Amino acid sequence: MPPTCSSARPRLRQGPRSLPACRARTVAGTGRLVFSLAVFVLIFGPDPVSAARRPHVVFILADDFGWYDVGYHGSEIRTPNLDRLSAGGVRLENYYVQPLCTPSRNQLMTGRYQIHTGMQHQIIWPCQPYCVPLQEKLLPQLMKEAGYATHMVGKWHLGMYKKDCLPTRRGFDTYFGYLTGSEDYYTHMRCSPIAALNLTRCALDLREGEEVATGYKGVYSTELFSQRAINIIEKHNSDQPLFLYVALQAVHSPLQVPERYMAPYRFIQDPYRRHYAGMVSAMDEAVGNITLALQQRGHWDNTVLVFSTDNGGQTLYGGSNWPLRGRKWSLWEGGVRGVGFVTSPLLERPGTVSRELIHVSDWLPTLVGLAGGSTNTTKHLDGFDVWNTISKGFTSPRLELLHNIDPLYNDIAPCPGREQQLTLAQVVSGDSRSKSGFNVSIHAAIRSSNWKLLTGYPGCDVWFPRPGHNSSGSGPKRPDRLSSVMLFNIEKDPEERVDLSAQFPAVVDRLLQRLLHHQKNALPINFPADDPGCDPGPAGAWGPWA
Ligand SMILES: *[C@@H]1O[C@H](CO)[C@@H](O)[C@H](O)[C@H]1NC(C)=O
Ligand SMILES: *[C@@H]1O[C@H](CO)[C@@H](O)[C@H](O)[C@H]1NC(C)=O
Ligand SMILES: *[C@@H]1O[C@H](CO)[C@@H](O)[C@H](O)[C@H]1NC(C)=O
Repeated sequence: MPPTCSSARPRLRQGPRSLPACRARTVAGTGRLVFSLAVFVLIFGPDPVSAARRPHVVFILADDFGWYDVGYHGSEIRTPNLDRLSAGGVRLENYYVQPLCTPSRNQLMTGRYQIHTGMQHQIIWPCQPYCVPLQEKLLPQLMKEAGYATHMVGKWHLGMYKKDCLPTRRGFDTYFGYLTGSEDYYTHMRCSPIAALNLTRCALDLREGEEVATGYKGVYSTELFSQRAINIIEKHNSDQPLFLYVALQAVHSPLQVPERYMAPYRFIQDPYRRHYAGMVSAMDEAVGNITLALQQRGHWDNTVLVFSTDNGGQTLYGGSNWPLRGRKWSLWEGGVRGVGFVTSPLLERPGTVSRELIHVSDWLPTLVGLAGGSTNTTKHLDGFDVWNTISKGFTSPRLELLHNIDPLYNDIAPCPGREQQLTLAQVVSGDSRSKSGFNVSIHAAIRSSNWKLLTGYPGCDVWFPRPGHNSSGSGPKRPDRLSSVMLFNIEKDPEERVDLSAQFPAVVDRLLQRLLHHQKNALPINFPADDPGCDPGPAGAWGPWA
């Protein structure tokens, strides 16, 4: 691994101020004097000029945006803004997220695996009385401590049963968005069954700060949220660094989009895919609009913009992860390999593709590092500062990635060919105990360099066909039966077609040991029963009730 400037970082109060020093060292090989001088200034000099130069950080998170749904992956869907921005930045092609909304957002905000917050099982449903544990220090809190103005627009989905869980109490100066998921793009209503009351409640889910936001009925949320982000950018006082988190509703179901975005896609036969394609186009335009606003306000030269999906595409609602196996809600690559890129004039190697292993939990230390902040008040982080990997092409500090361990896993959506939800025993063959002691009937997956080990039922295991095509290309749609332990070389076999567990028993054993180790350090799952007190009533809004 090349020497990293970040090795000096712990001693320096302002991380980003070390960037010029790093450059001095790499650019001018003989620039020792320059470097020493820079370090001197960094350590001893109160330097308001470079402090003001701490980059603005804009993080745009798409919802359920699939691997094959971005233009630069060959999609029939057109994403000119994403293509252009990523072409001038660094495309992350070995980048991982979690297979579901709440889990990815949880790891983004904490820098920690779900097993360490008790949130390894599923999403937070509207009536469940829990949220990301309040002892966790979240990314916006750390950015705020580093002197940033912190704003959030869009989907929270990290719990809201009491006010202390709300984004405004967890580090964001301002918030405009919705607290749950899956609402209507125009009415901003979310319908959810409340089992204890034997009813399905449809209620508004939109807030300005902590107050219910009425008056936006009929405004398409992709436009609503991007316009709100633009307002924040336009009002921003550029003396202060900005952290803006835009968690778009797009392109999650329901499939709703203004007609004009769908017009270019008349050639797509499948109406789900056609609607979805229109939604992607609207999202692409939103990202273009936000970057344009940053440029027009003169912020762009000092902005780091991250674009990421939260999980793989949902094939039931028009998304595609072709040629990857599986989809959202599964631990196959189709569920966890994410579309993501970073674009910024501050990148040292713009226009490159990174194949280094990077995970959604890495953003917290990476962005706090860029902000010159400190993570010394967080709990143990599972994420790594990957800025040098992204910006300079250095080897990733991440050697391992725990995708998840969830003993309660169930796949709630129908998987083609498997009409009902099957129990593990019906899907998976093999002994549940391994010699490592890890119970391999448990839904789990771990990555170590190019190896990926899966145990239990990983979720819907189909190779879904490429949109507009009938077959998934080579091989069958799925094998008859899965085994309880599977090993793939993801670098050579990203489609997870050739199980190598029999050929590499030593690798299997080592990775099972690692799973056992992680399982021993996992918190018990927190997944409380619905609290009927959540009911907002026919005229109310979803929100804190406790
Ligand atoms: C739930 O509501 C339905 C329809 O309103 C009714 O038929 C059913 O008996 C109710 N079940 C219980 C347990 O109250
Ligand atoms: C992008 O900006 C244009 C021009 O202001 C506007 O017409 C359009 O609705 C915006 N798109 C989105 C998705 O916000
Ligand atoms: C954390 O880091 C900051 C800045 O680097 C420093 O001022 C502070 O003393 C540290 N706190 C702890 C608890 O180590």
